Amino acid sequence: MKKIAIFVSGGGSNFKAIFNNIESGNIDGLIELVVTNNPNCNAKKFANKYRISTLVVNDYRYPRKEDKESIILESLQDLEIDLICLAGYMKILPKNIVKSYENKILNIHPGLLPRFGGKGFFGMKVHEAVINSGERFSGATVHFVDEIYDHGPIITQRKIAISDNETPESLAIRILEIEHELYPEVIKAFCEDRIVINGKQIKIMGWYEN
Ligand code: GRF
Repeated sequence: MKKIAIFVSGGGSNFKAIFNNIESGNIDGLIELVVTNNPNCNAKKFANKYRISTLVVNDYRYPRKEDKESIILESLQDLEIDLICLAGYMKILPKNIVKSYENKILNIHPGLLPRFGGKGFFGMKVHEAVINSGERFSGATVHFVDEIYDHGPIITQRKIAISDNETPESLAIRILEIEHELYPEVIKAFCEDRIVINGKQIKIMGWYEN
């Protein structure tokens, strides 16, 4: 059973999807900690409701960058966390964490990376950019996290066709639905040691699209 930390900043619908997949027994994991920069976000309320430990790390509580970094790393190490899942976390991860958890940090992005990613491409901005560029497809990407926003090795993507009367809002809804299926499936695979890394090539054993 893998010990998981989830990093959130907002609504937490992906966090809830992961939680539900653990509860139903689909994912062999345990959410040990929820880390957030936003003490008022819905994701944190959800964690509180289900008595999951939370750690709030922001400028108000930890004005010094070094303190932010060390409190997060120490908490992860104390709990012997095996996997970090970013789920709508709006901060860049400190370098010390990226280094200590290489190939153990996942993120989901609401677009087909490497396009429409990077700093500034979050939430509705991604969908607006996709539609304005005339793309015919969009989707969701799960990737390992490195020190650059939305940059680490891609694990898997799921693609959907953009319909003729698509709006950023309709696309956001459709892609979020995909995320809620795709992200738990990748986390399940990680927890079952089915993700095989060979340089830049990543394969999920037993994955239907491989
Ligand atoms: C999702 O669209 C995810 O792809 C992105 O941030 C959003 C988080 O949504 N990284 P939620 O908080 O999980 O509802």
